[in-house]
Parts: sequence; structure tokens; C-alpha cells
Amino acid sequence: MNNTPRLYSDLAWLWPLWGDATVDYAHYCGRVTQLIRQYARRPVGTLLNIGCGGGKNVLNLKKHFRVTGVDLSPTMIDQAKTLNPDCEFIVGDMRSFALGRTFDVVLMDDAISFMIGHDDLSAAFRTAGNHLNPGGVLIATPDVTTEAFRQNQTTVTPAAVRLKPANLDVIFIENYYDPDPSDNHYEATLLFLIREDGVLRVESDRHQLGLFSLDAWRSILAATGFVTHEEEYADGQNEYTVFASVKPE
Ligand SMILES: C[S@@+](CC[C@H](N)C(=O)[O-])C[C@H]1O[C@@H](n2cnc3c(N)ncnc32)[C@H](O)[C@@H]1O
Repeated sequence: MNNTPRLYSDLAWLWPLWGDATVDYAHYCGRVTQLIRQYARRPVGTLLNIGCGGGKNVLNLKKHFRVTGVDLSPTMIDQAKTLNPDCEFIVGDMRSFALGRTFDVVLMDDAISFMIGHDDLSAAFRTAGNHLNPGGVLIATPDVTTEAFRQNQTTVTPAAVRLKPANLDVIFIENYYDPDPSDNHYEATLLFLIREDGVLRVESDRHQLGLFSLDAWRSILAATGFVTHEEEYADGQNEYTVFASVKPE
């Protein structure tokens, strides 16, 4: 399997079209902001978005916080900078980067799914903890847990109309399949139906994504030193567990 997702390299130009940042991402960011205010045990001014991708969440969160983004993909970091020229972005691997400074909030959203083993997930939470002020809050939202996983779940999403040129049509098809329920990952297979001036081109990508039980999330967060609260978030199609974890003062 290709280790560099095409969606974050040669096909990254499609990412801005998959969900309108000002609409689809605003709802989630509203919920995140509310949870931060609820659980933080210190004033919150700065936020580190780990795995910030193309900066769609940053676009919404910067209304409330001074945001810094980190992502593994230089292509996605460039995209995040274009969308948010007023924010700071840095290339880094969530398992190991060290900025040498701390923030009031750390957000790990869909990128945390790229942690496919216990060691990787622990390392990512250690990175988060190292960058968090005491009393600060880590928000982590897994795409899916073992309890919520649906074999062969398939979603079809058209490109955001407001953002695409008139001669371009894109349909995003995403399929989740777990060939081996005894391990900690599943396959996401992506198909992109791209029509430019009506001419069809089909591209594909495959991601290996982490799949852990709620208990595994709880115990890894506790072992990393966090005091964790669980909340729900629903986007109309799926329900997610959001972990709001406080770093003890
Ligand atoms: C779905 S995108 C995130 C999109 C983002 N939520 C947004 O608002 O645009 C997932 C991101 O995870 C990043 N990623 C994957 N593995 C990573 C790692 N080990 N460290 C940091 N980022 C990683 C990818 O480069 C990709 O940009």
C-alpha cells in the first residue's frame, strides 16, 4: 500500500473541494470551541492544530484562538497557508515533532486516524501533552471507533459547488473495510470521479487508518497523564465520540 496518501500529495488540489470549510467544518468547530470553554482550567488564547491538513478547521477556529498548525504533508501545509495567511504553519510528524513551546489547547481531529498502532497513538498523545500548558485541554476526535465501525460503509459526496470552476465536476466516493478485525486498522478506499469539460478521469487512493475501542482510547489517554471526559458530536450522518482531555495543573 502506498504510504504517502495521494489525497495529500499529487491529488491534494481536490481537498478544498471536499466539503466547504465555511459550512461543513464550521459546525464541528463550534462544538469544539464550546468543549474547550467547558473543560479548560486556564484562560485559553492559543491553539495548536496537529494534523491541520488544508487548514479548514483553522479557518473557523482562528475566530476564537491564535492558531498554529502542524502537518506531515508540505503540500497540505501550503494549502493551509493559502487559506489562512494570518496563521503559522509548520511541517512535522505528530509522533515526534517538538516546537519547544506550549499552547492552551491542542486539537487533533481527523488526522489522528493515521495512527494505526498503540505505540503510534501513545506517541501522538505524548507530543500533544508536551505542547500543552497545565490546565489546558486536548480535543481528540477519532473518525470511528471499533464500537461504531460499519463494514463497507460507503459515502458519496459531490464537490462543493461554490468552490469549483464551472467546467469541473468531482464526485468523492469513500469505502471503509476492515479485512482483519483482530488488528488495529482498516482500509479507506477513495475513488475520485473527475470530469473536466465533461471528460471523465477516475483516480483512486487507499489509506490505512487506525481502529481502536473506546477502552483503548481511554487507557492510552490516561496512561499519557490526561484526565479525560467523553462527549458526543453528530454531523447529521454520523455520531462521533470527542475526547476532551485536561492536562493536570
Ligand atoms: C483529512 S486531512 C486533515 C484535514 C483537516 N482537518 C482540515 O481542516 O483541513 C488528514 C491530514 O493528516 C495528516 N497526517 C497524516 N499523518 C500525519 C502525521 N504522522 N503527522 C502529522 N500529520 C499527519 C495528512 O498529511 C493530512 O493532511
